Amino acid sequence: MPPRPVNNPFGVPLAKPVDEVPAGALATLRRKARDCRACPLWRYGTQTVFGQGPVSAQVMLIGEQPGLNEDREGVPFVGPAGQLLDRALGEAGLDRSTLYLTNTVKHFKYETRGTAKLHKRANAAEQAACRMWLAAELLRVKPKLVVGLGAMAAQTMFGNAFRITRERGVWRPLGEGTQGLATWHPSAVLRMPEEARRHQAFEELVADLRAVVGALEG
Ligand code: URA
Repeated sequence: MPPRPVNNPFGVPLAKPVDEVPAGALATLRRKARDCRACPLWRYGTQTVFGQGPVSAQVMLIGEQPGLNEDREGVPFVGPAGQLLDRALGEAGLDRSTLYLTNTVKHFKYETRGTAKLHKRANAAEQAACRMWLAAELLRVKPKLVVGLGAMAAQTMFGNAFRITRERGVWRPLGEGTQGLATWHPSAVLRMPEEARRHQAFEELVADLRAVVGALEG
């Protein structure tokens, strides 16, 4: 039996608690998130990378956190991981412009090595501080289907026990009228050292995105 989603008092379909949910339309939320100081990550990033896509989107994709390219451009999934995601979306028959794409954490986090900025994973406190924005996006968009890309999003949706390797590609209820599944993060696919494994994970990502097309049609 899959674990039941633990809805917080705001009715947000996330397994992890949210203390408050900012109000307003997406444009208002985006503007408010620009000045967010709920965790120290605002000091790192060039800008808050808020979600992108139509409020009418039936599908929301949730990644982990912006990288260097997203930080520069202020748009989710525009770097190498985004390019791989675009290829997977294309193969699955999903039009990116119809989707709402966002991240669990809205700021780039990095450590410097010389002049390079190396990606660093947001910690639990930073993820918790940012969850109100994801909750607000979910409440505004009210997607029918939610796809978590990678462990950070998956565990936010389904709890810390969730493992992509064991449980990817399986639909679970995510509150009223919403279902979610989690799949490979495109960066995880890119990092796999063996070509055969990389190919397999990419095909699994495409298959999970095709399941989204199937659920939309069904
Ligand atoms: N990885 C993510 O999780 N999100 C992005 O926006 C880019 C890379």
